[in-house]
Amino acid sequence: RLMPGLELARAFRRSLTGAELKSLPGYGDPRGAPSLRTALARYLSAERGLTIGADDILVTRGSQMALFLAAAVLKPGDAVAVEDPGYPLAWKAFRAAGARVVGAPVDAHGLDVERLEALLARDPAIRAVYVTPHHQFPTTVTLGAGRRLRLLELACRHDLILIEDDYDHEYRFEGRPVLPLAARALSQGQNANRIIHIGSVSKLLSPVVRIGYATGAPDLIQAMTARREAIDRQGDLPLERALARLIDDGELGRHARKARKIYEQRRDLLCAEIAARLGDAVAFDKPAGGLALWLRVSPDIDAAAWAAEAERSGLILTHGGQLLLQPSRSHDPGANAFRIGFASLDEAELVRAVTRLKAAQPR
Ligand SMILES: Cc1ncc(COP(=O)(O)O)c(C=O)c1O
Repeated sequence: RLMPGLELARAFRRSLTGAELKSLPGYGDPRGAPSLRTALARYLSAERGLTIGADDILVTRGSQMALFLAAAVLKPGDAVAVEDPGYPLAWKAFRAAGARVVGAPVDAHGLDVERLEALLARDPAIRAVYVTPHHQFPTTVTLGAGRRLRLLELACRHDLILIEDDYDHEYRFEGRPVLPLAARALSQGQNANRIIHIGSVSKLLSPVVRIGYATGAPDLIQAMTARREAIDRQGDLPLERALARLIDDGELGRHARKARKIYEQRRDLLCAEIAARLGDAVAFDKPAGGLALWLRVSPDIDAAAWAAEAERSGLILTHGGQLLLQPSRSHDPGANAFRIGFASLDEAELVRAVTRLKAAQPR
């Protein structure tokens, strides 16, 4: 709801009515509008330490399409290891692209790289790893430096593709955002060309604006572009050009700074409300970034039953059991939890949500 709609509408109108689009001979580049790829390359260099150019970027319709296309670089029979608990829509995309999906456990520090290594030894068909290192989905934790290095080293040793989903990079409240795996790999000359870094404007602007992007080595971007052309000849050129304008004008950066402040206040309010009103029923760590809390529910309360009761009062909650790849792990104490997003609720709505959550708590 914070989306700078007027600014985007103005840029869209200029883009649609300007001479440049009219002078295009027909279809555009399937990798996306050159002006947006140039703007994104500059933005990603400045904000994420990715030293890339416009030709290294493929613009997609949201990161969902980029995830699907990333799996398209694999061969039939290949598998992708994914964080478990994790992001079910990514699993859906990988499966739709023909890959097998294998769960790699997540602990309090993010992807358990040691157990991933054991998994790789057992299942040589794993050719890629999907990871959300900045703010793990759903637990929100940031993958530490030691595990990052180990993961890069593993990827090198097993010749794996790392699919890095950096969906909410801009929202870091404590300190500076942590640079992506792709930036670290680039700076160390370490298998950078085997990382597909994926981003989106869904959190930055709104999920109704379907623009995401992927960057990686030329052969990977080429393979993804070929598959993209098969399902979608090109993106929405006027929208892509409008977004390029917002980036070039500095509007996107201004919006991100403003939104970050508001979301930080919402995070703090939600944390304070939950701590004051839910007491020992839940425990959580205040997330350093991202737009959600991961609430660990007390072992004597069933999070799924609590969520079902909350739904009767109109409060839709995602509980940990819904985010497990292997339902057999649903008794895992780590899954007895909720992921609660706070970005789309204003202060009064957040307070109301906690009131409903409290009222729905099983006794
Ligand atoms: C882990 C993860 N990746 C990516 C996205 C963004 O998806 P999209 O760009 O397709 O809207 C989200 C949105 O909730 C997400 O949670």
